[in-house]
Amino acid sequence: MNLSDIRKDFPLLNPQPGQKPVVYLDTACQSLRPLQVIEAVNKYYVDYSACSGRSMHKLAAAVTDQCDDARVAVAKFLGASRKEEIVFTRNTTEAINLVANSLDFKAGDTVLITGKEHNSNLIPWQMLVKKQGIVLKILQPKEDGTFDQAAFEQTMSQPVKLVSFGFSSNLDGVILPAEQIIKLAHKHGALVLLDAAQTAPHHKIDVRKLDVDFLALSGHKILGPSGTGCLYGKYKLLEKMSPFLVGGDTVASSTYDSCEFLPVPEKFEAGLQDYAGIIGLGAAVRYLQNIGFDFVQKQELLLNKVMTEGAKDISGLHLIGPADPALRGGIFTFYIDGVDSHRIAIMLDQMANVCVRSGQHCVHSWFNYHQIKGSVRASSYFYNSLDDAEIFIENLKKIRKVL
Ligand code: ALA
Repeated sequence: MNLSDIRKDFPLLNPQPGQKPVVYLDTACQSLRPLQVIEAVNKYYVDYSACSGRSMHKLAAAVTDQCDDARVAVAKFLGASRKEEIVFTRNTTEAINLVANSLDFKAGDTVLITGKEHNSNLIPWQMLVKKQGIVLKILQPKEDGTFDQAAFEQTMSQPVKLVSFGFSSNLDGVILPAEQIIKLAHKHGALVLLDAAQTAPHHKIDVRKLDVDFLALSGHKILGPSGTGCLYGKYKLLEKMSPFLVGGDTVASSTYDSCEFLPVPEKFEAGLQDYAGIIGLGAAVRYLQNIGFDFVQKQELLLNKVMTEGAKDISGLHLIGPADPALRGGIFTFYIDGVDSHRIAIMLDQMANVCVRSGQHCVHSWFNYHQIKGSVRASSYFYNSLDDAEIFIENLKKIRKVL
């Protein structure tokens, strides 16, 4: 793989003459999209802009075929045993809400999450505490943000219905030992849901090897269109679950007082879908498979090492997460004593077109617990160059001198 060829695929990384290049370090929020994805989306609107699975005309048949191809591509990408185990959603948030609202929870059932969850894997469970009387337990990570296996084993000695963990953290990039977690959870009779929004773009996931029950991902973090995602679920579990959103295209037939639901996954995909987005997501996973995860991880580590080393000279800078960049994937999050994180982000953007995210990154609960106001997060991907990391550090040093 050649980085300069890869960068040609991303229009935002190829400025017009006279334009300043973008240093895009906000992939953990949303990745850039290659031309191959943009073209797949455009092709839908230009060539067969119709509905899937309903009408009998040729255009509709083309959409049905293309969406089916995308489902097969995502199923293969995740190692699912059949395409029906992939339910398309708008994002990871919707996929987690689907599980929260479709699994048969009863008062007193326990859901276990970590102390570092994104709101998407916290608020749906808080709602179930209020509405259904489930018990929500929080497992804190170790001081450096890594997984506390001993505390997990201890918590699992009490009954737990569902373990729902962020596979990798959007805050500090730490990846969990999923295989071990799933084995232990299953030994105690618990199901496991992994929020893989931050993992699927960076690591090979094999749902069968992991033996995970449910896994959620977002298309827009993995080179796909905005507002796309999916839930993987073991077929036997999905079959038993009642749909969360219902209506058009979820049923085979209805009378005035009853209905007959379609099989999995249709019963979960209510209403007209984002066909262009689904087709684009299929193109995205194919593109990523072609790049390969070795290249992805090598490039991310290279940049994270440069950032971590460069930040050592910046006074008052506190890194969030483990010191070793190899444990943080593409994520470099920090705060500087007494300096507003949004101010740093705005200055990076204004001075050098460096795009980072600032604030609490939808992990408000962790920041409130640790009484930290906010942070700046630089998140890289395989399309970032070493120059990107150097420009970021160089400008951060300049900012520190004036703030
Ligand atoms: N979850 C996304 C982020 O971390 C939005 O930025």
